[in-house]
Amino acid sequence: MNVLFVCLGNICRSPMAEGVLKKLLKENGIQENWNIDSCGTAAYHVGEPPDPRTLVTAKENGIILNHKGRRFQKVDWEKFDVIFAMDHSNFSNVLALKPESADLKKLQLIRKWDNERSSLDVPDPYYGNDEGFREVWQILYQSLGNWLGNIHKKTLTKNIR
Ligand code: 4NP
Repeated sequence: MNVLFVCLGNICRSPMAEGVLKKLLKENGIQENWNIDSCGTAAYHVGEPPDPRTLVTAKENGIILNHKGRRFQKVDWEKFDVIFAMDHSNFSNVLALKPESADLKKLQLIRKWDNERSSLDVPDPYYGNDEGFREVWQILYQSLGNWLGNIHKKTLTKNIR
């Protein structure tokens, strides 16, 4: 499964989402056959490592992030099976680059999987404090946990049939 996370700068929310998914796969012992990546819709931080607060939050959860910022490209629509946008603005920017042949269903707002959500957007923690980064981790952990559970259920059903 090829999964891409998209935010604006690719230094806070989307690299953190990569870390959260890696953590969940590790916890469930299902690390094989996953290709996980992240990118931003803007080019401000291309080539840069994640924000130090993103790295610390991931490390607090036992995950080391090795990522260099990159910008979303049209070809990503073909390369990935699922594209998770962190907020509505990322969603529109990714949609604007959709090739006609690509499957629209690949693109999802990640928080649609958060059943405790107060909003469909993952808040941007960049201008906030460390607590904001921990909150984003929790939101992503909740959302991706539900998404993974759903995929697992589907796979089980398929195998039974
Ligand atoms: P992200 O947060 O989209 O979650 O990576 C941001 C990081 C940097 C900027 C904006 C948002 N910036 O304007 O530089």
